[in-house]
Amino acid sequence: MPLSNMDFEFYESEDPIWNPALMTIPIPGIRKMVNLASTMDDVIHLSIGQPDLPTPQNVINAGVEALQRGQTGYTMDAGLPELLESLAIYYGERYQRTLSPDNIMITTGATEALYLALTAVSAPGRHFIVPDPAFMLYSPLIRMNGGEVTEIPTRAENNHQLDPQEVIDAIEPHTYGIVLNSPSNPTGTVYPRETLEAIVEEAAYRGIQIISDEVYDHLIYDGKTYPSVLSCCSDLDHVMVVSSFSKTYSMAGMRIGWLIGSQGAIKKLRRYHMFTTTVANTPFQWAGVAALHGGNDFINHMLKEYTARRDRLVELVEQTPHMTGYVPEGAFYLFPSLPEGANGTNIALRLLKETGVCTIPGETFGSSCSNSLRLSYSTSMDNIEKAFERIIPWMEQQDFD
Ligand SMILES: Cc1ncc(COP(=O)(O)O)c(C=O)c1O
Repeated sequence: MPLSNMDFEFYESEDPIWNPALMTIPIPGIRKMVNLASTMDDVIHLSIGQPDLPTPQNVINAGVEALQRGQTGYTMDAGLPELLESLAIYYGERYQRTLSPDNIMITTGATEALYLALTAVSAPGRHFIVPDPAFMLYSPLIRMNGGEVTEIPTRAENNHQLDPQEVIDAIEPHTYGIVLNSPSNPTGTVYPRETLEAIVEEAAYRGIQIISDEVYDHLIYDGKTYPSVLSCCSDLDHVMVVSSFSKTYSMAGMRIGWLIGSQGAIKKLRRYHMFTTTVANTPFQWAGVAALHGGNDFINHMLKEYTARRDRLVELVEQTPHMTGYVPEGAFYLFPSLPEGANGTNIALRLLKETGVCTIPGETFGSSCSNSLRLSYSTSMDNIEKAFERIIPWMEQQDFD
């Protein structure tokens, strides 16, 4: 397979120069598929992990104006004061929770916030609980720092809901952290308030940190109210909430995210942040201020668009032989399963080679779902229709017995 040689050299090299901890970083399944797709013509991507809608003009203007005003130096280490203030007000209004700017730190996307939170807590002898499937960063970052992970499997038949009792039962005396991600990448599942409350309450009682990745917190369909961990905890002593502008305002490349926690946690992590990236991108922190003050038109437009695509994708998956779907309530992914025992990686590769539709194999996101595929609907309705005009007849010809 024409994987770039870089992947193999970097990840599987025996070269003693590299810290063995790097071996915990898997070869990204997404890269494999996208690299292969880039060598082919006429590929339809259901593989995209970022919004396809254009960034709102007021956000772009604010970034450009910040550059023109000479806002090109470092900000304070916690972030641009105007953005910290705006976020504190925004979260206060959204979840009726009083936050001060000292509860927030601006990072280089949610990715840096996750990196800081997970690696600052993970250490040899410490145990963490992570849903499976999950966004592929969590477990490797924990393991890289010596921590061990218990993965809690979820299933398409159950809308990939997390059973809070299974999480609680997995807690051990040396458990230090539980990672939550709602809406989830790759499943689009939104955890109900009861699930979060049960886990958050038990974690607080046992002194365990909840690391909650909420980057899709505005991609919630069917008019539902989003249950954030921030609205389910009595204080911030045991929670670190991560989010960003990437998905909400189509700002993924602008790299502005944040971490919310107790003032003590933020104080500690600010020093770590200084040693990691110093500060986040200054002009685009101004773009973020404009995003928060720009009204809800963009978000409403985005929700309307993604809801229509989700509904159509759910119908098409239902019509596809051998695929079990469900109705995802958030994000822009559906994670259908194939028959038990099917090899999702082989299916994804064959699907790409034989039909030109690029999906992401389930095993990219964990060990319990190798018979699944991640389908992204961050692409036009037209592409979704065309993709299934190829997928359905191809699946009709497959025999999984
Ligand atoms: C669940 C999840 N968390 C975090 C990120 C990273 O977000 P950011 O662009 O803010 O670093 C992504 C990006 O795909 C994601 O899906």
